[in-house]
Amino acid sequence: MISCATVRKDVIRQHYNISTLFYRLLWGRHIHHGLWTGNESPTVAAQQLTEQLVREAGITAGQRVVDIGCGMGGSSIHLAGKVGCQVTGVTISSFQKRWATVAARFAGVSDRAAFLCQDAETTEFPAGSVDVVWSVECTEHLFDKPAFFRRVSEWLRPGGRVAICAWLAGDDPLSADAEKLVYQVCEGFFCPSLGSERDYTGWMTDAGLRMTAVHDWTSRVSRTWEICRDRVNRLGIRQVASWLDPEQLIFIDRFQTLLDAYNTGAMKYGCFIAEKQR
Ligand SMILES: C[S@@+](CC[C@H](N)C(=O)[O-])C[C@H]1O[C@@H](n2cnc3c(N)ncnc32)[C@H](O)[C@@H]1O
Repeated sequence: MISCATVRKDVIRQHYNISTLFYRLLWGRHIHHGLWTGNESPTVAAQQLTEQLVREAGITAGQRVVDIGCGMGGSSIHLAGKVGCQVTGVTISSFQKRWATVAARFAGVSDRAAFLCQDAETTEFPAGSVDVVWSVECTEHLFDKPAFFRRVSEWLRPGGRVAICAWLAGDDPLSADAEKLVYQVCEGFFCPSLGSERDYTGWMTDAGLRMTAVHDWTSRVSRTWEICRDRVNRLGIRQVASWLDPEQLIFIDRFQTLLDAYNTGAMKYGCFIAEKQR
């Protein structure tokens, strides 16, 4: 695991309060990578990642799902509307909670998708009350990832599943240059640490979860950052960000670093499915 001690939780919260509109304009309603199979549009590719994770986790109608780090509610609303789940989304950003609540109302799924503004590292659900814990690109922001997976395991009923997509540090051993790239990504994208594939499987297994699938999707998702970098350059978004909140500029300036990290193996993108022991 590569750690970055300068990242603070209040800055993560501030980032998502300020940048959610920016994400919506730059990328769409999902704040996660696209998953490509060919030349699909970015919007289609982002939706494909959500749909592929639903299939990987075998999620079905009527299941109780907790969406940790729910963003604008993109996944939650899909799970509630298209799959027929009962979803609770959790986000650290009050702005995102309000956005997701309104979006669910517009999508006609308010009765099946509710949103909480809470910290995933302290939020609680009754033991054994959840069928699926879903978390796409949020665990990167958590400070104590092993403790998070222990709590997730408690929330799940026996046979319940965890579905995770996460940015990963590359496989050990990393060169000094690779470690530096991962550190710069942590710093720029407000991640207190990035775990490797082995770290994630270890944390979940230690929490009493049995791994059922681990996928490396790096080559299918990395195009996301070429598109974001080009859109930012074309639309002069860096200039607008510098007027709104100069502290956010580091994030825009690290898009190329992230691409370099994927292209050199310093980072990977992983999908993990695990099941609570019956
Ligand atoms: C990259 S976005 C992903 C959003 C969403 N999963 C999606 O795919 O569209 C990361 C999300 O994690 C949330 N987040 C970060 N730290 C959190 C924490 N400690 N507790 C709850 N949510 C957190 C952010 O508010 C944001 O919604």
